[in-house]
Amino acid sequence: GVRRREVNVLVVGLNNSGKTTVVNSFKSEDDKVSDIVPTVGFSVERFQNQNLAFTAFDMSGHGRYRDLWEHYYKDCHGIIFVIDSSDRLRLVVVKEELDLLLQHPDVCQKKIPILFFANKMDFKESLSSVKIAAALGLDKIMDKPWHIAASNALTGEGLQEGVEWLTQQIR
Ligand code: GTP
Ligand code: MG
Repeated sequence: GVRRREVNVLVVGLNNSGKTTVVNSFKSEDDKVSDIVPTVGFSVERFQNQNLAFTAFDMSGHGRYRDLWEHYYKDCHGIIFVIDSSDRLRLVVVKEELDLLLQHPDVCQKKIPILFFANKMDFKESLSSVKIAAALGLDKIMDKPWHIAASNALTGEGLQEGVEWLTQQIR
């Protein structure tokens, strides 16, 4: 078989943003689950893209588990940050969590790529990826490669573009 490089990605974002649905769509048909429930703690999932074998740490976004995220910053090669584009009320909470992540010692000195999914683009009230990038102040991230892709994790729209970018950054 093909020998792929093993890499770790951390998947974070608020609860209900669609992290597990995103990760599930990256998995091969045999590994996909049909019933997605809110993640408790975190879940370790595997998928492949090009020459990389990904181990994804799919974290719970619920308030009571967000303290777990930071323990995985050190050993990850990339971060996937999922945002519910239709959840305008919690965009300030998203920014708070993102700022905490960016200021963390295990993140701020590393040049790890961050892929943002402006997910749930299918809702008519959803903000565009440009508006979300502005609201989160992504243009201020100077020391790391980042990219934002609008996505619909239910249909898979936008997901491939995102993971291709991440793969290019890591390889
Ligand atoms: P936690 O594990 O609780 O942190 O949530 P999560 O971020 O893993 O969210 P999850 O993948 O469980 O998805 C939450 C809900 O949003 C589910 O009902 C999904 O079917 C739905 N969902 C995910 N992505 C999309 C999307 O792009 N569009 C729509 N309409 N629904 C989505
Ligand atoms: Mg989940």
